[in-house]
Amino acid sequence: MIQKGLKGVVCTETKISHIDGEKGRLIYRGFSAQDLAKEHSFEEVAYLLWNGMLPNTEELSNTKQQFKQSRKLPNYVKNIIDNIPANHEMLSVLRTAISSIELYDTKRITLQDAITLTSLVPAIISYRESIQNNTTYPEERTDLDHVAYYLYMLTGEEPSPSYVKALETYMILTMEHGLNASTFSARVTASTESDLGSAATSAIGTMKGPLHGGAPSGVIDLLNDIAKSGDIRGSIQQKVENGEKLMGFGHRVYKTMDPRAQAIKETLQDNKKEDDWFDLALKVEKTAIEVLEELKPGRKLYTNVEFYAAAVLRELNIPSHLFTATFTASRMVGWTTHVMEQLEDNTIFRPSAQYVGPLYEKNLDK
Ligand code: ACO
Repeated sequence: MIQKGLKGVVCTETKISHIDGEKGRLIYRGFSAQDLAKEHSFEEVAYLLWNGMLPNTEELSNTKQQFKQSRKLPNYVKNIIDNIPANHEMLSVLRTAISSIELYDTKRITLQDAITLTSLVPAIISYRESIQNNTTYPEERTDLDHVAYYLYMLTGEEPSPSYVKALETYMILTMEHGLNASTFSARVTASTESDLGSAATSAIGTMKGPLHGGAPSGVIDLLNDIAKSGDIRGSIQQKVENGEKLMGFGHRVYKTMDPRAQAIKETLQDNKKEDDWFDLALKVEKTAIEVLEELKPGRKLYTNVEFYAAAVLRELNIPSHLFTATFTASRMVGWTTHVMEQLEDNTIFRPSAQYVGPLYEKNLDK
């Protein structure tokens, strides 16, 4: 039987993360991702994913140091970015820039290389933004931890601790998520014994699509559209009846609310400001679930991580064209971890396709 999109096909074992789609649980290396996001930093959780255990004080301090020492954007990468046409999206810029990073060893994959790629994503985003906006590229600093540094690189200002915590929660919750499309493509590339930079480049190209990483900016468009119509229910109904997919709803694995959406929603509710947009998001979520239940009975469609990611990133004043790039900044940890795991016990990925095209040659029957 053909499983289009490999739906439900188990093709490898992993010790990195576990998704319980029925119960709505996400586990990283045995720990609840929601608890990790509440209690730990980006570097601690990255260390956990890469190494299988949480770091002690010395290991954490060394990891933070490695992040800081790896964040300087080489001049040759700046030159490449300088030459990318202005109409290219940020994900295309990241794909090109990441593919150019010189790593330690193209034959062996090292933890330092994983840190280098993760550490450079904020610098690439910030450098491109400075060109596009005709602003000064912020001075590279080595005193800030990774998430604070990302916010600093976007604004040129020291971010407030509450902003850092909100972004850190989002970035930890989106670091890793099993064999999603981009991680799968990273593993496919790694399975040919290609290098880490190539695997990360494949993953970014896959992340770019609107059905995967491109959804949160689609959520902003969806909410703006609904707000403009002035009729939440009518507008949602019309979209679903027209066969449109509501961005931020549905998930291949979760058959209940995505736990990451739940955790981000709670963070937003805990720090609730007067915000009409967040109130609109809550109303749209409730109404859309009702409409989808009516029009798509039995499909179990709830909000996914992208729905509330859009709310949190918007609250941090991160412009919507940087949403997928911010997702990339966190998911780089998951991709690099999967590449390392793939190589521990590698078998090249090579599924088959059933040929349904014509057969023209007479002698093909013989
Ligand atoms: N809005 C309306 N209907 C939907 C939605 C949605 N967001 N998602 C699924 N459906 C419907 C489909 O139309 C289909 O209905 P049908 O059986 O009547 O044809 C049914 O639910 C099953 O849909 P599939 O596309 O088969 O579900 P699948 O599990 O393959 O797709 C996916 C999951 C791609 C995420 C899908 O739900 C979607 O496109 N959602 C919108 C985009 C989005 O939010 N992407 C972010 C995902 S999270 C992430 O990548 C980090």
